[in-house]
Amino acid sequence: MRLGVCYYPEHWPEAMWKDDAARMKALGIEQVRIAEFAWSRIEPSPGEYDWGWLDRAIDTLGEAGLKVVMCTPTATPPKWLIDRHPEILPVGADGRPRAFGSRRHYDFSSPAWFEASQRICTAVAQRYGQHPAVAYWQTDNEYGCHNTVVSYSESAVKRFRAWLADRYGSIGALNTAWGTVFWSMEYRSFDEIDAPVATVTEAHPSHRLDYRRFASDEVARYNRMQVEIIRAHSPGRPVAHNFMQLFTEFDHYKVAADLDVAAWDSYPLGALEEQWFAPDVKARWLRSGHPDFASFNHDVYRGMSKLPFWVMEQQPGPVNWAQWNPAPLPGMVRLWSWEAFAHGAGCVSYFRWRQAPFAQEQMHAGLNTPDNRLDVGGNEAAQVADEIRAVLAANADANAAIRSKVALVYDYEAKWLFEIHPQGADFHYPRFAFEYYSALRSLGLDVDIVPVDAAL
Ligand code: GAL
Repeated sequence: MRLGVCYYPEHWPEAMWKDDAARMKALGIEQVRIAEFAWSRIEPSPGEYDWGWLDRAIDTLGEAGLKVVMCTPTATPPKWLIDRHPEILPVGADGRPRAFGSRRHYDFSSPAWFEASQRICTAVAQRYGQHPAVAYWQTDNEYGCHNTVVSYSESAVKRFRAWLADRYGSIGALNTAWGTVFWSMEYRSFDEIDAPVATVTEAHPSHRLDYRRFASDEVARYNRMQVEIIRAHSPGRPVAHNFMQLFTEFDHYKVAADLDVAAWDSYPLGALEEQWFAPDVKARWLRSGHPDFASFNHDVYRGMSKLPFWVMEQQPGPVNWAQWNPAPLPGMVRLWSWEAFAHGAGCVSYFRWRQAPFAQEQMHAGLNTPDNRLDVGGNEAAQVADEIRAVLAANADANAAIRSKVALVYDYEAKWLFEIHPQGADFHYPRFAFEYYSALRSLGLDVDIVPVDAAL
């Protein structure tokens, strides 16, 4: 059980770093995640690396006795790279590329992107793989966030055809498996197959399902590439990825199979706003989050993590991105932290050390205000740190694994299938699983969440 924080040294004058690190340490923080969006500072121009600032940031954190979670910076390809290789941009179902100017503007299937990613990951892993302060790694940031798993680019379609050829062996086998004789949709070769979009009425369901499976496998392939590079240059340091709450657009079990730590990003109030909950339920839990929501996600990610799962980003106060962004009730940041530990978390890491006074998330809280005073969430984190020390002093084994009596099977492909073949317009597979989970919890039962092939 330990606390962490997400920190952006590139947002702040270097003169502040030492004091920041000392204050983190004093507050009881043990690990600090950095650099997941720092590519434009690491490589400001093609092939010209500027390591100096990052070396000094890592040294400063290490000298304060903090452990660094080093990230690969691939969630934010820089402008010069997009200008050189516009084909890196993902393409929407409308056939239009998505634009530069935010983040996650890349296509998992783009060969230019894959090659650029290998290069930057190798550079970062080579530089910091053996650094004594670097204890862990995070690949990329929130795969699939902002609806970026599926792309309809030429590269994606090309790789999809190869994926199909691999899966079915012959075009005859695909025609039989899909039943393309229906509506005369038979193909003579894999090269005739496009993405299942822009059809007159619904595209063939098997075509759609395979496109989803393919897109999911592309995420796993991309993550595996990063993990292999990190392991080659930084052996023995656990590798994590920060998954999202209730996100189902790729098969998380497959991605987690290559990681040591399945981590997730917990924003209980933003989630309540975004999810299906009825207005009265939203009103009731407006400032605390639904009582089963974070726990459901803890149990999902605990079930796929080799080492104890982490909360890589814990909501520290109001977020900026939901439709309404209330402040958590006093005590919620502390409660969410303890709830994570009660579900077996190895680390709860707060997003973020200090609120930035610029750009997209300037209205999103941090542990500290932009003018550097400890905010509500920061005070609660400090209390949690004290309590952790007390709990561990009383029982060093406090966080030992337990096995629940009930296992809930949770499957990503099922989500895609139900979406493609909806029995009713409002049927929503994660909601269905969540409601069973909630019912079990109301009976006082702990729940393990497992894949279909789990050894029970
Ligand atoms: C997460 C993301 C962070 C930050 C945060 C704001 O989804 O990983 O980078 O955007 O949300 O709540």
